[in-house]
Amino acid sequence: MQDAIRVAGLCKTFARRGTGKVTAVDGLSFSVGVGQIFGLLGPNGAGKTTTLRILTTLIRATSGVAEVAGIDVARDPLGVRRRIVVVVQESAAEIFLTVRDNLLTFGRFHGLEGADLRQRVDRALEQFGLVADASRKAMDLSGGFRRRIQVAKALLVKTPVVFLDEFSTGMDPILKRSVMDLLREEARNGRTIVLTTQILGEAEALCDDILIINHGRGIARGDVATIKALSTIDNASLEDVFVELTQAVAPGAVDR
Ligand SMILES: Nc1ncnc2c1ncn2[C@@H]1O[C@H](COP(=O)(O)OP(=O)(O)OP(=O)(O)O)[C@@H](O)[C@H]1O
Ligand SMILES: [Mg+2]
Repeated sequence: MQDAIRVAGLCKTFARRGTGKVTAVDGLSFSVGVGQIFGLLGPNGAGKTTTLRILTTLIRATSGVAEVAGIDVARDPLGVRRRIVVVVQESAAEIFLTVRDNLLTFGRFHGLEGADLRQRVDRALEQFGLVADASRKAMDLSGGFRRRIQVAKALLVKTPVVFLDEFSTGMDPILKRSVMDLLREEARNGRTIVLTTQILGEAEALCDDILIINHGRGIARGDVATIKALSTIDNASLEDVFVELTQAVAPGAVDR
């Protein structure tokens, strides 16, 4: 299988006022095959967002290498950006634009235009239940609806890799289900999806491949069945294993 993402020996250290340094990512190595839905899981502060920020060229690694769609993130960040879409954890839609203009602007930025762009925007508005609100400014929508705009953007363009940091935050269960179906369809069409979530049932239902990290290090890797097999409990859920594995390292044992 071809790899969409390759990470080797990745480290990120942040300087922290007064308290020296914090190691957010501590020697991560993994790869993700093309067309996989990959879940990067871990407790709060484990280093998930930091890892995604490196892979999406928002910050630079302290050491190690990372390639996305065959391109080195440090050597050619623009090349990487052209091949990805990112829905980050704290992202807000462009609040002064209407819902439709949010999507149109984003599509144009990714080189779409004319009838093709308009058709895709109409389709995305429908898929995300945004038709009735298409002419409203994003700032006038509820948090969940603003989140919809963000995820709709990711599915509007056809980049080979999609990064979603806690995509389902604030989404109601009905929309979440349909977004999960859409993500599966994207993966079937050969897009690689990298996501983080704290809702482990979601990861269990969606991910082909999972990496659990804690304190910036990988602690479990494989498909759902492989990870569940690491549990000492019979018929463990992914959440059971997650709690078991991440509690094995006492909180506070590492820089906080
Ligand atoms: N810009 C920064 N400066 C200093 N420390 C940072 C910075 N960004 C992240 N950190 C630290 O790095 C560690 C990892 O943070 P990160 O945001 O990657 O965690 P996460 O796994 O995404 O957690 P969550 O589940 O809460 O989103 C934390 O200890 C955090 O305080
Ligand atoms: Mg995070």
